Amino acid sequence: MRISNLAMGLTPSPTRKLFDMAAKYNDTVDFTLGDPDIKTPIEIRNAACKAIMDGKTRYSANAGLIELRRAISASVLRRNGVFYDPETEIVATIGAMEALYASLLCLLNSGDEVILLEPYWINYRHMVTMCGGVPVIVSAKENNGGFAVSADDVEAAVTDKTRVIVINSPNNPSGVVYDKEFMGRIAETSKKYNITVITDEVYRRLLYDGVEYSSILDFEGMKENTVLIYSFSKEFAMTGWRIGYAAAPKELAQSITRLQENIVACAPLMSQHALVEALNDEGFDSKEIVDEFTARRQCVIEQMEGMPLLKMNPPQGTFYAFIDITDTGLDGEAFAYKLLEEEHVAVVPGGAYGDSCKNYIRIAFTLEIPRIIEGFGRIRRFVERISKGE
Ligand SMILES: Cc1ncc(COP(=O)(O)O)c(C=O)c1O
Repeated sequence: MRISNLAMGLTPSPTRKLFDMAAKYNDTVDFTLGDPDIKTPIEIRNAACKAIMDGKTRYSANAGLIELRRAISASVLRRNGVFYDPETEIVATIGAMEALYASLLCLLNSGDEVILLEPYWINYRHMVTMCGGVPVIVSAKENNGGFAVSADDVEAAVTDKTRVIVINSPNNPSGVVYDKEFMGRIAETSKKYNITVITDEVYRRLLYDGVEYSSILDFEGMKENTVLIYSFSKEFAMTGWRIGYAAAPKELAQSITRLQENIVACAPLMSQHALVEALNDEGFDSKEIVDEFTARRQCVIEQMEGMPLLKMNPPQGTFYAFIDITDTGLDGEAFAYKLLEEEHVAVVPGGAYGDSCKNYIRIAFTLEIPRIIEGFGRIRRFVERISKGE
């Protein structure tokens, strides 16, 4: 059978490769996947069970249940301070992934360029290519206590083919939260060259040390040229429920809905019903989950204290730590494979997030604290051996 060039061109991400290798050992501490080990809150699970038992198991409107879109609209207004019309400007999707892919499919023609900021989530690059677009990568460097691109470099990457800039803050994998000045510059660039911004805010609820969050939507006139992507995967530990949304100006939201009709019909109905309950319940929020990740992040910071050869800027958001391993003399890939072989600890090599990240590894603290401590104990043993030249 002949397989298309598009499908053949997609290589499995290193995250998956490491995850599969890690499964070979029965004592692996697996820091690879951005998939919280925490259970979805009981209120949401109960609401989904009820929906199923009540027989709410059919298709919904392509854009999702109007009750859900109303609840999302209210939640975006509370969080972003921007109103999206639930009738025409919100589409419930199969996680943030489908929202991102559908948005790109609606925005790109063949050869159009999309600016991605290192370190970037690998799926963006694949999605852009799958849409016939061309990813244009802006390199990151250490600045202001974080590993990120500069706004000047983003503007310098603009050409007459640029259609989209993708911003992901808080950032997977670096944990960086872009500040207001940076976001303001991106907003200026977007307006100056008429470029759409896709703002992927899936980690927005996971912020630490009182860091101030700035969204591209905070800037005057940006709603007209922005797609807001969100999902409940991280905030409510719902990765397997496959539910998220895109909020966008009417013309784009309606295009996403038409596309959705032809590829998936709608997001899973029980997930939609469960979220209507959760979002409409004023007494319900994700504080417990946020508190858990705050404690785990603190544990990671403590474990990194006095760690030979490794450096880390504490993540300002997300559940990832991005660790500079330059001083070990190994690159991220060699480090990750050797660590897995010798200590049965799985981490993701930084090269997965762009060429300038090759001397980093990513650790997802989606494990309970005793496992985090166990994993870091093994990492310490590993780097101590390297520092002694063993
Ligand atoms: C930056 C980023 N965006 C989107 C997603 C996808 O989330 P969802 O489960 O909602 O599809 C992830 C998942 O890891 C992510 O890290």
